[in-house]
Amino acid sequence: MTKGIPKHIAVIMDGNGRWANARHLPRAFGHRKGAEALRELLKSAIKIGIPYMTFYSFSSENWNRSESEINDIMGLLRRYLQSELATFHKAGIRLKVIGDRSRLAADIVRLIEDAEVQTCDNTKMTVVMALSYGGRQEIVEAAKAIARKVENGDLNSDEITETCFGQELYTSEIPDPDLLIRTSGEMRISNFLLWQLAYSEMVFVEKYWPDFSEKDLIQAIEEYQKRERRYGSAAETA
Ligand code: IPE
Ligand code: IPE
Ligand code: MG
Repeated sequence: MTKGIPKHIAVIMDGNGRWANARHLPRAFGHRKGAEALRELLKSAIKIGIPYMTFYSFSSENWNRSESEINDIMGLLRRYLQSELATFHKAGIRLKVIGDRSRLAADIVRLIEDAEVQTCDNTKMTVVMALSYGGRQEIVEAAKAIARKVENGDLNSDEITETCFGQELYTSEIPDPDLLIRTSGEMRISNFLLWQLAYSEMVFVEKYWPDFSEKDLIQAIEEYQKRERRYGSAAETA
């Protein structure tokens, strides 16, 4: 199954809360199960040979949740970064975190930086975690960076292209996602990778994230393989 494997799959891991609710458990249990599902799915991704995967872990809008839920998620994240680093490194995974770090606790930022530095030369797979991430905020930050270059005389406004704009995004060295998967039956983007998803194929899965398994990933890839990516050109059969 090497031919036709998407180079980059982005995932909106949604439905942890509803997974827990359905079992009369606190939402935190759902997040914990969600972290376990991610751990398992990464093993599958390596086995399948997916070069890049991006996981939406916490959005800029998720800061509006209750303090206790945010604390639960941040605690989980802290433990995840600590416990998974060695496994990531051993598996040849390079970790990259995108998002607004200024809102994260200092010790979490340090864990992220350490993990990024330690894994930066790994080549088997790149795992991007979107944390405190918002697509609009990312685009605004890129616009500011470009504006500063123009102000300083380093760039002429006529020279602003899609390529140079893309270079100011968090994802400058990551190819755009070929496939976006969202779990839990919701069919929206929720401020994820607004620029980068311009031509991604989208697969929406009914299952809640904690139940998403290797089988579901393979099914989503097979669905992707059936799609005809036209990028605005006329259909082959037309
Ligand atoms: C996704 O699950 C995880 C985060 C957004 C952090 P949710 O927490 O959104 O779960 P639902 O959508 O409420 O079920
Ligand atoms: C999107 O899920 C963010 C993550 C999965 C991290 P949300 O649950 O926050 O999105 P909405 O609120 O349903 O759009
Ligand atoms: Mg949700």
